[in-house]
Amino acid sequence: MRPLLIALLSLSSLQANAEEPWGKVDLNAAKPLHDKACTACHIRMYGGDGSKMYSRDGRMLSNKLELLQRVASCNAMVNAGWFPEDEGNVAAWLNKHYYHFDQ
Ligand code: HEC
Repeated sequence: MRPLLIALLSLSSLQANAEEPWGKVDLNAAKPLHDKACTACHIRMYGGDGSKMYSRDGRMLSNKLELLQRVASCNAMVNAGWFPEDEGNVAAWLNKHYYHFDQ
């Protein structure tokens, strides 16, 4: 059952990828996910709410695809167990609030 569910979910995200690198998103779902799994290290490095990681001088990313890849690799690093949809939601949320990439 579970592998089937995962297969279906990745299939739907692949189709959505035709439009945006992160497909259809649910921005409301993103912030709780992000705040739970992603702020600890960023705050340790930059203080405050950690968001300076995303707005620092010389930040590493320059387009949506790189943002999505970075979210995916940070997710893999922390083993948060997110689905591709979750990565897409958080990437889109980060883009809306910090990165503002058009493509
Ligand atoms: C174990 C510590 C740690 C955790 C937890 C973590 N990150 Fe990171 N993250 C880093 C480090 C370190 C960098 C900067 C790497 C560098 O400067 O080369 C980074 C950089 C980033 C960047 C790129 C910043 C830039 O330069 O524009 C993004 C986006 C990001 N993380 C997203 C996430 C997301 C999403 C999560 C939650 C799934 C997460 N991070 C969890 C350590 C962490």
